[in-house]
Amino acid sequence: MSGPADWWRDAVVYQVYVRSFADSDGDGVGDLPGITARLPHLRDLGVDAVWITPFYTSPQHDHGYDVSDYCDVDPLFGTLADADTLLARAHELGLRVIVDLVPNHTSSQHPWFVEALAAEPGSPARARYLFRTGRGPGGSQPPNNWLSVFGGPAWSRVGETDQWYLHLFDSTQPDLDWRNPEVGDMFAGVLRFWLARGVDGFRVDVAHGLFKEESLRDQERAEVAGGQEGANEGAREMVERTVADEPMWDQPEVHEVYRRWHDILDEAGPDRMAVAEAWTQTPESMARFVRPDELDQAFNFSWLLADWSAAAFADVVTGTLAAVDSVGAAPTWVLSNHDVVRHPTRYGGGPRGLARARAATLTMLALPGSSYLYQGEELGLEQVEVSSEHRQDPSWFRTGEPGRDGCRVPMPWGGQTPPFDFGPAGSSPWIPQPEGWAGLTVEAQAGDPGSTLEFYRAALAARREHARGLGAEVEVRLDAGDVLELRRGPLTVVLNCGDTPTALPQGEVLLSSAGLRSEGGATYLPADAAAWLRSAAVQPSSAEL
Ligand code: BGC
Ligand code: MG
Repeated sequence: MSGPADWWRDAVVYQVYVRSFADSDGDGVGDLPGITARLPHLRDLGVDAVWITPFYTSPQHDHGYDVSDYCDVDPLFGTLADADTLLARAHELGLRVIVDLVPNHTSSQHPWFVEALAAEPGSPARARYLFRTGRGPGGSQPPNNWLSVFGGPAWSRVGETDQWYLHLFDSTQPDLDWRNPEVGDMFAGVLRFWLARGVDGFRVDVAHGLFKEESLRDQERAEVAGGQEGANEGAREMVERTVADEPMWDQPEVHEVYRRWHDILDEAGPDRMAVAEAWTQTPESMARFVRPDELDQAFNFSWLLADWSAAAFADVVTGTLAAVDSVGAAPTWVLSNHDVVRHPTRYGGGPRGLARARAATLTMLALPGSSYLYQGEELGLEQVEVSSEHRQDPSWFRTGEPGRDGCRVPMPWGGQTPPFDFGPAGSSPWIPQPEGWAGLTVEAQAGDPGSTLEFYRAALAARREHARGLGAEVEVRLDAGDVLELRRGPLTVVLNCGDTPTALPQGEVLLSSAGLRSEGGATYLPADAAAWLRSAAVQPSSAEL
């Protein structure tokens, strides 16, 4: 697909969690033909691009983030021909397609790891991963004190031998040794494979993880904070570590990889991009991933981790803009994804949580840069309590914590009862959907002006009309009543995080996340709401006439 080379700089990207979007064949699991059939929903919503979570061959221990063949489609999700059809249809509809790339680790079923386990210690096959000799008598203790993001030690022992392998995530996700040139060459090939099939970009999983400090020394953990509750655990743990000693993350050598990838993307065309998932220590270290000769964007998780507070959001906006400005990159914004508690629930749940979520979304969409939306947020879906027998997140198995399944419940499209057209009638989604979702389906909300779906459609249309091309400058104002005002040229967004209505400044109200009230010549924005205003055109002064 051709078009402006830097389309991604202000794109709205919609994340599809492949397992939970649309199931064409009734096996209870979403798949590529399911996505293709539902692409018109994304076109009607008004997004620019779709990011699809991993659909490659995988034993599915971490739902595709454990890849055993990077250049094929898992039969659960379809075939390579289905991927081609999806790409072609998306491009026909004017949608770009970003695919997920998982370079930090393979699946333990990847032929390389199978070969490594069968080979001798010290062999070239083992040298593609991080095998090390254990400590203590007989090497029965892990080689260092690193912990897995999913809980427990980051090392697993090879049988009864003194050999262990590193896995920063699940034991079925062995970390590759990026100091081995074979690894870099393999991924260069993977990038070229998908670029040749026509993908527009990559979302780089765990982009800050590829290199570990060469010594593999112990981590100093005095500063690591205690446990976090809920499904944010894995993600938050990564953030907690940002204040600590991190020999396993964000090593300088990783940037060499992204310079190579930058060239590979360039060779494929001026409009191909990559976005990094990099949980780094500081905004400055995040900015290093998006230097002009590296990746194009990095997810900015600061809003997603901020509390409901105008002051916190003001810091997020100022800090983010300053960080990316130093390297000339475009900022990104995200409120929900497949790893964290959905934002209406984070903001308290129920009608108030939803009101706040809509207000936060409207505020985010006014900002320069790109916004990433997560499937189902346009329906106002909340986090679901998933019963333990249906949980599949590896962190649940490793820690007994609920994990991330509650934000991954299959989408409700229509009908009155499960599967709500997620799959054919009579099929059973891999996580049961709440019985009460009939009013939340796309079918139920479409055409209802008060619905969250129509709110998202209106907000995305307003963004195209009023926010695109306004430039990167944002004036941030904070008022004592917990109200945030962001001005971008003629566009102002007001977000009321306080408890009482606030009078809006002068200007034409373009749209709001909740009903407004007019009284005594003023218009009031209720608590937990946001509005966009356009200032009256500035009259040229007589001297200029
Ligand atoms: C992905 C997770 C995944 C992990 C390991 C992440 O950051 O977003 O869903 O479990 O990487 O690949
Ligand atoms: Mg299916």
